[in-house]
Amino acid sequence: MYYPDELIEEIRARNNIVDVISGYVRLQKKGSNYFGLCPFHNEKSPSFSVSASKQMYYCFGCGAGGNVITFLMEYENWSFQEAVKALADRAGVALPEMEYSQEMKRAQSRRARLLAVNKEAATFFYYQLRRQQGRIGYEYLKNRQLTDETMNRFGLGYSGLNGRDLIGYLKSKGYGEDLIREAGLASADERQGLSGKFWNRVMFPIQDINHRVIGFGGRVMGDAKPKYLNSPETEIFDKSRNLYGLNHARTSRKGSFILCEGYMDVIAMHQAGFNQAVASLGTAFTAGQASLLKRYSREVLLSYDSDGAGVNAALRAIGILKEAGMTGKVIDLTPYKDPDEFIKALGAEEFQKRLDNAGNSFFFELEQLKKGYDLQDPQAKTEFQRAVARKLCEFSEEIERENYIEAAAQRYHIGFENLRRLVGSYAAQTGLAQPVIRPKSGTSSKETAQDRQIHNEKLLLTWLADRPELYARISKYISAEDFSEGIYRTVAQRLLEEAESGQVNPAAIISMFEDETGQREAASLFHTKILQPDSPQGQEKAFHDIVCAVKRQSYERDCASMGTDVEALRRAVAGKKLLEELSKTHISLQ
Ligand code: UTP
Ligand code: MN
Repeated sequence: MYYPDELIEEIRARNNIVDVISGYVRLQKKGSNYFGLCPFHNEKSPSFSVSASKQMYYCFGCGAGGNVITFLMEYENWSFQEAVKALADRAGVALPEMEYSQEMKRAQSRRARLLAVNKEAATFFYYQLRRQQGRIGYEYLKNRQLTDETMNRFGLGYSGLNGRDLIGYLKSKGYGEDLIREAGLASADERQGLSGKFWNRVMFPIQDINHRVIGFGGRVMGDAKPKYLNSPETEIFDKSRNLYGLNHARTSRKGSFILCEGYMDVIAMHQAGFNQAVASLGTAFTAGQASLLKRYSREVLLSYDSDGAGVNAALRAIGILKEAGMTGKVIDLTPYKDPDEFIKALGAEEFQKRLDNAGNSFFFELEQLKKGYDLQDPQAKTEFQRAVARKLCEFSEEIERENYIEAAAQRYHIGFENLRRLVGSYAAQTGLAQPVIRPKSGTSSKETAQDRQIHNEKLLLTWLADRPELYARISKYISAEDFSEGIYRTVAQRLLEEAESGQVNPAAIISMFEDETGQREAASLFHTKILQPDSPQGQEKAFHDIVCAVKRQSYERDCASMGTDVEALRRAVAGKKLLEELSKTHISLQ
């Protein structure tokens, strides 16, 4: 931090969050909170809440949240320092000049400037498409059956016949050549100076989940190569951590995502009403993208191209989804190549049927496996059945495994008992805990266990932020050490100290984190949805359960590391006693 903490806190405290946000969002008072339409995602009914007492905002739809500083960072694309400066100005607080060097200032606002230049470029392309000179691009998209509304919704554009026009435009808006180059919009040529990267292409702006343009894909309108040209990765454009269309899809509330390969596929599906569609960005699906999707939904339907490359990509994606603890299903698009072509040929209703019939990803994998065997030949058939049995060892939970054995036996006409015995013998050889095919299996269930732990910790933090006085009643049992390492423990440490002194200030805790992700995560710690039972007894039980759960997790963690960590051994011994006592103790909420 370049400003002292106390100064930041003073500036934050002198800017009432309700007043500041009211300048951007229409808020209505409901109970003790204010509600409005979330500025960070599209919605029709308000799930964006601002709390005057906590001095925080939180959106129950998209999870955006933080204090007044976070809000300006997210809304205005400002850095932490820039947001603090604006709020200081607003409240008439004098900031010490030159607390940080010119160079630092440049580094911080670089991201913001990259975002700004991309946004300006998107505007330029957008208008090109809608002018006479852009007719050719517009006709191309019309030919691909996109409506004006769809083109607008996705901000589609045209890059113009001359790559230099964009550069002139951006310069006239005050952007320097270095920035234009860094953003990947142009490359430098020794003789001719800057030349635009994109020309005579229809342009697909790529947006992050907050609708900010972070890069572009540009398609030729004929058969030239490369078909699509994409922005290079930059500080703001990490292809492994963004998905095309997610800014719209995350609020679709369809309960699952459709994952596909192409920009045009996403757009065609959205236009046909399947607004849960997203695509990876010209690269293979990654674990980072899986965890991004998992924030919103755990089920993903794959609609990859039905050619060989598409099938392989789907198989890889299935593995990644499994590792992330998500379920994947596969949509059969045959005889069409991709969702765009399918919808064009058979329409939305037929596509919906394919979604409804999307197949279990395990059987998709088996079907692909089957292609490698000639089942007319008894030897090959036996080998295939062995392969099926080995694959069934992936399921470490008995009930699940039995169910799959039964289904596989039926589907491939293998005697149930025979198959079961075969699975049993492979399992005995290799051990179910370490299945043959997926050596890293087990991480998914571990990950969900970890998710559950974190969820419990969040719940407890939310309770204590709402009712700090309760901490006195559990402080004998719970300390910051009982929370998972990292952000959870950091926040708990501060919150518990504040609860002890009777001065809880969640909004100030958020300023401990300078980056948006940290702030957002910290804010979510105070806003976990608590399902409040109506009766006082029910509430007491709920609170008691959470306290016990957090203590038990912490105890189990200590037990796990007891062998190598003497301190953990000490904590585990003490923890066991406390846990027993806690389970018998009544904690009153009155
Ligand atoms: P496809 O070749 O399947 O194209 O590439 P498509 O999506 O069907 O495109 P249309 O319908 O012909 O317009 C799928 C995705 O792979 C990336 C793009 O992200 C594209 O959407 N890609 C493809 C590239 O990045 N560069 C290329 O040259 C081709
Ligand atoms: Mn296509």
